[in-house]
Amino acid sequence: MNDPNGLVYYDGVYHLFYQYNPADKVWDDMHWGHATSSDLIRWTHKPVALFPDAEGLGYVFSGGAVVDWKNSSGLGSKSTPPLVAQFTHSSVSGHQVQSLAYSADQGESWVMYAGNPIIENPGIADFRDPKVIWDDRSNQWIMVVAAGDRIKFYRSINLIDWEFLQDFGEGIGAHGGCWECPDLFPLTTKNQNIQKWVLLVSLNPGGPNGGSATQYFVGDFDGDNFRQEHSDTLWLDYGPDHYAGITWSGLSPINGRRILIAWMSNWQYANHVPTDPWRGAMTVPRELSLIETGQGLRVAAKPVSEYDQLRVGQQFILENTLIESDKLLCQGATVHDSLDIEIEVELDALQGDWILKICNEHDEQLEINCRVTGGEIEVRRDRAAFDMPPEGDFVRAIKAPLDLNGRQNLSLRILKDRSSLEIFTGEGVALITALFFTHRPLNQIKIELPDGDQLRLIKAVINELESIWD
Ligand code: FRU
Repeated sequence: MNDPNGLVYYDGVYHLFYQYNPADKVWDDMHWGHATSSDLIRWTHKPVALFPDAEGLGYVFSGGAVVDWKNSSGLGSKSTPPLVAQFTHSSVSGHQVQSLAYSADQGESWVMYAGNPIIENPGIADFRDPKVIWDDRSNQWIMVVAAGDRIKFYRSINLIDWEFLQDFGEGIGAHGGCWECPDLFPLTTKNQNIQKWVLLVSLNPGGPNGGSATQYFVGDFDGDNFRQEHSDTLWLDYGPDHYAGITWSGLSPINGRRILIAWMSNWQYANHVPTDPWRGAMTVPRELSLIETGQGLRVAAKPVSEYDQLRVGQQFILENTLIESDKLLCQGATVHDSLDIEIEVELDALQGDWILKICNEHDEQLEINCRVTGGEIEVRRDRAAFDMPPEGDFVRAIKAPLDLNGRQNLSLRILKDRSSLEIFTGEGVALITALFFTHRPLNQIKIELPDGDQLRLIKAVINELESIWD
């Protein structure tokens, strides 16, 4: 699998469609695979939802889906609102247009709209990944589509006829590659009730740590125009393995959550990672929020709270402990494949760097290096790169700013699974998602300090997680 597609919540069910090649584990012949869940954690595989038309409009590339509550499209009825998916048809020769499919039975089966395409190609090689939202204020559907290294905005009242509004992106943000998989949504700050619009734009290559990554823009959208309100480039996740993330539609404004899921890989090596019989996975779903920082408004993310229900195994806890030399936090059979690690340290006593190592006795390790004075976190996975080329993007150090936001303590939450790390620092503004591959399980967790340095651990909680796929 690659990108998540058609994320829509309807009648108690989260739908997750995704880019899928049923015949092989390398990218080709794109379909939409389908899975459903009632809690975002336990997923049921469903039959393939959308099939390509190799001789005609082509492969089924990425896009979104909405509940057409008022049946504005006429593709369902008022009593049974249709689910309407928007996606890119990409022909064998690479001609890309936007199309629709719809479901009248809550996503069980899908029909291709007979009038496809709904938006013709305006003469651009890369023209794809439509995402549609309902804008309550302007009372219309809005679509964002990636076009080269721009985002095109369109509006519609019936999901079928679209009017072009705006091109966004000239001279703004990162342009090291093609823009893909946009998303647009409002977010409100908790304290001051500031509402802003967020535009997500995936970029490949050109990410901060090589290859694929997702940038975002914070600004205003008035129903006609989006304008960003900052000049710096903002990254949703600095890690190399967080791409093409989009958010669920159909969640009620009362619940108020904005939930994102992303593909956990990178086009630099996606077709080569040593997993079998599958390739490609999704991140843990993340709840997004808008927070105020010294640098301005930023999008923060944390794992959805449903994830906590997986904490069923042993818990290892250390509290208020002064560490004066290297410390083994836990090892051996207690170190499970799937862990939720929470660490909070006091920065005052600390002179230099400290390192969290997740390792084993066979010289395999992940290193999470916290450079407090340099304000940087660095992850090294060069010794957790089993079966990956010894040079290139996979083995280089991964860097991100440390998210301190003026606080005296540094907190890290690390979701470590069998072959992935998802690191949330501070309030969740600087994230690192990274795959790793080891020959043997990593069964030790250590803290390492430079000679003579001290670290006050406010807490270290290591939760074992239920393994839901075994
Ligand atoms: C992003 C992407 C999309 C495209 C899809 C094809 O990973 O390249 O732009 O629609 O994958 O599988």
